[in-house]
Amino acid sequence: MNEHARPLTLSERADELEEQVMQALNERIIAKSVLFRMADGRVEIDNGQALLAANPGKHFLMGADPRLPEMPEKPTLIDFFKARFASTSHMLQSATHALKGGHSEKVVLSCLLHDIGVASFIRCDHGYWGAQMIEPYVEEEVSWAVRMHQALRFFPDPSVGYEYPQMYVKFFGADYKPEPYIVAEYERARNHKWYMSARLITLNDIYSFDPDAKVDLSDFVDIIGRNFKQPKEGLGFDNSPSAHMWRTLMWPTRFL
Ligand SMILES: [Fe+2]
Ligand SMILES: [Fe+2]
Repeated sequence: MNEHARPLTLSERADELEEQVMQALNERIIAKSVLFRMADGRVEIDNGQALLAANPGKHFLMGADPRLPEMPEKPTLIDFFKARFASTSHMLQSATHALKGGHSEKVVLSCLLHDIGVASFIRCDHGYWGAQMIEPYVEEEVSWAVRMHQALRFFPDPSVGYEYPQMYVKFFGADYKPEPYIVAEYERARNHKWYMSARLITLNDIYSFDPDAKVDLSDFVDIIGRNFKQPKEGLGFDNSPSAHMWRTLMWPTRFL
């Protein structure tokens, strides 16, 4: 509680918030998952007993991390966009591009969601992670397209004007060759009835890296409403095959 008679200034409010966070942190031990450490080049895990011994009287965090933006009890896809996706402008630009191109809502939604794997979770195999997260809530064609865009991005299709991205030459070097599993996935996708749905993600993707473009999530709220089956219990609590992934995003530092 504050004892100030006047309203708090912004910086005082920030201080107060920081204090609340520090207090919560003081009461709980926050351990890191192995994956977080591996990103720093170490295959290591904290010893739970040793951490407890080093923090007498404290317990491990088993819920919301006070350092992260708060999530509502029954989170929606929009809540995750706002509080858990580190960057959304690339996906919004891609979806805006698809919308302006007159594509179907299914395609626009695919573009809007195509990189949620990267934006929220992990880079490696992001198309597969992203597809798995949304699979229970979208038409099969949408999650299929999100999964397959990962492989298709590496292969040109002159019939629709898609070329190998020059950016990838910069990113990965001129001699980078996709691994055999990506080549095999591309070949499967190439002969699939939904090929063009995944290809359209790559077509709308490549022009979408403009840091100054004006994009707004509110332009897509209706499309999400009509095409994403938001569970009434909240994402993470609906017992779907990917509910645990949404929960993990919500509570990435829960001890177990
Ligand atoms: Fe992608
Ligand atoms: Fe992308």
